Amino acid sequence: MTDQANPPWAQQIAGIRAGYEDRVAALADEHALRAFKAEYLGKPGHVSDLLKEMTKVPPAERRAFGSAANELKQLIEDDIAKRLAALDDLRAAADLARTVDVTLPARPVGEGHLHLMTQCRLEAAQIFAEIGFTVADGPQIETEWHNFEALAIPKDHPARDMQDTFWISEDFVLRTHTSPVQVRTMLTQKPPIRIIAPGLVYRRDDDLTHSPMFTQIEGLAVAEGLSFSDLKGVLLHFVKRFFMQDLAIRLRPSYFQFTEPSAEIDMQCRFCMGSGCRVCKGTGWLEIGGSGMVDPEVFRHVGIDSEKYTGFAFGMGLERMAMLRHDVKDIKFYYEGDVRFLEQF
Ligand code: PHE
Repeated sequence: MTDQANPPWAQQIAGIRAGYEDRVAALADEHALRAFKAEYLGKPGHVSDLLKEMTKVPPAERRAFGSAANELKQLIEDDIAKRLAALDDLRAAADLARTVDVTLPARPVGEGHLHLMTQCRLEAAQIFAEIGFTVADGPQIETEWHNFEALAIPKDHPARDMQDTFWISEDFVLRTHTSPVQVRTMLTQKPPIRIIAPGLVYRRDDDLTHSPMFTQIEGLAVAEGLSFSDLKGVLLHFVKRFFMQDLAIRLRPSYFQFTEPSAEIDMQCRFCMGSGCRVCKGTGWLEIGGSGMVDPEVFRHVGIDSEKYTGFAFGMGLERMAMLRHDVKDIKFYYEGDVRFLEQF
């Protein structure tokens, strides 16, 4: 005789529910709760096993059985969801409760600084400013006329050769030196002129001490009565200030088309102070650039009266000077962008 009010399936459902409620309270984390839920609602699982017994239930009770089983399923689903949400709330509350010590020092942020070459350019401009020179500028893509012709460098000169010059077209080059800025300045300013022109120049050259792109500092002064000794005085001032050392310079006879007379600029070797070492190859001197008195032929190109005015000009390699000042062994270091190198300056 079955108990009408409490049929076996109802006792079974009540048993499953009691078992669930018994054990669920002890589950303290999300992983355990989800596994427990699968144990009841998964396939196989206690509730789906229960539904398989539908056929054993007398037809008249099946409806009641179905809804009781569904009710159990819903109850478990809701209960697990509620418990998961409660765990989330706990976690959020713990996050909020965690105290943050706002007085702790911040992690240091790496600070950038100017590239060594930029520092040197600015420094050079400062040093020349002390003796009245201002900074002039010109394009890096130059006309053949400004780069060569106006500087009296003839068409057949080796400096124009495919070996040295990056030609952009028949009329344009990547400037091979900063001397075209001399030309541009003299075309637009009247004497007295005192400018320096630091900037990038380009040559088809590549080894330990040559890079296809490098920096020159051009200098130009034009006035009445300027002489070779003015040139030497200006260069001496620069070398002493730039190297922060009492170094001598010497002007060694040389040849440039746009200066006459012309001279290489040598400075006293700062490693052996002139007695001869590996760096200066035993000579006691280090070459840092070219210079000379502006050739009247150049004045003619830019319309300056060479009877009235004289001028001097110089061009120095800035990478080379920074290599000497900071003992840099390879000119490539300047342009590789390796912070381990750059950070040192
Ligand atoms: N322009 C020359 C060079 O690049 C250097 C120079 C500049 C020489 C000014 C004389 C006067 O080699």
